[in-house]
Amino acid sequence: MAFRFIDFPSARDDLRADVLAGLAAKPKSIPPKYFYDEAGCRLFESICQQPEYVLTRTETELMRDKMPEIAAAIGAVDCIVEPGAGDCAKVRLLIDALQPRGLVVMDIAGEALATAAKSLAESYPALEVTALGMDFIQNLAAATPYVPGGRRLLYYPGSSIGNFSPGEATTLLAQFKQLVGPQGLLLIGFDLKKNPVLLHQAYNDAAGVTQAFNLNLLTRLNRELDADFDLAQFSHYAFYNPTAGRIEMHLASLTAQTVYVAGTAFSFSSGETLHTENSYKYRGDEFSELAVAAGWRLDQHWEQGGFAVQLYQIQQD
Ligand code: AVI
Repeated sequence: MAFRFIDFPSARDDLRADVLAGLAAKPKSIPPKYFYDEAGCRLFESICQQPEYVLTRTETELMRDKMPEIAAAIGAVDCIVEPGAGDCAKVRLLIDALQPRGLVVMDIAGEALATAAKSLAESYPALEVTALGMDFIQNLAAATPYVPGGRRLLYYPGSSIGNFSPGEATTLLAQFKQLVGPQGLLLIGFDLKKNPVLLHQAYNDAAGVTQAFNLNLLTRLNRELDADFDLAQFSHYAFYNPTAGRIEMHLASLTAQTVYVAGTAFSFSSGETLHTENSYKYRGDEFSELAVAAGWRLDQHWEQGGFAVQLYQIQQD
């Protein structure tokens, strides 16, 4: 088994500065990457199993059904790179089909990533697995020395790209291009625009798991930043904004209240919200416009059940 884990705690821990800045801003917001402490990772895995949240299952079915075509379109690759790999479950189908020499996975939740990547390395003894505990959004270039040479495929599944604004998504896609080099490929999955009622239900599951995921952010701030959020005084509020083409998740203050975070006071008026996540939904052509602006050329598009996967090559000038 070939496995290594490199942790970059310094590239990861802007929690305090980001949260203090986000709470001081108007409207208040906190970047969604901070959902993923240990409990947040577990809650997200449970969201993916809720009947209303079909996104993950639909993508897996698409990947299974279309894999012969997808693998043929990709061809031979030396290495797969997956930012935000989480539990490393999704990449297994691609490893089976493409049999690369190397795999580089990254995630802000470094310890959970290391455990998942190690068990992946045990399943594929011939694969060289590198796990990087890092905030790739802040510092993707830090991964460069750990990515083996040859033809590289950047895999970004799960509609994670939807958690960035279109402008941020374009910047990130351009950074992906730098990381994989001129022979590089991008395989990316994103959720398509669909009936807003279905989208609303996906982020308001009956079992309350998405609500628990959203509120867990406050539990994390209470623990890690010595904050005093009273969770009973905040409500999970998620809805589809059709003008912006995105689900918005907020935590709404149920009363006028003052909260202390790392010694600083922040007041909330009754009904004021703390914006915790956007989840953009795209049409295929809308998304490819972003990728083309980032320097990619659309090669193939697959879609099934309201989810799309696109394969890109780098534009040659
Ligand atoms: C990780 N990401 C693609 C999920 C999404 O659907 O935007 C996060 C999530 N938030 C609430 N439910 C799931």
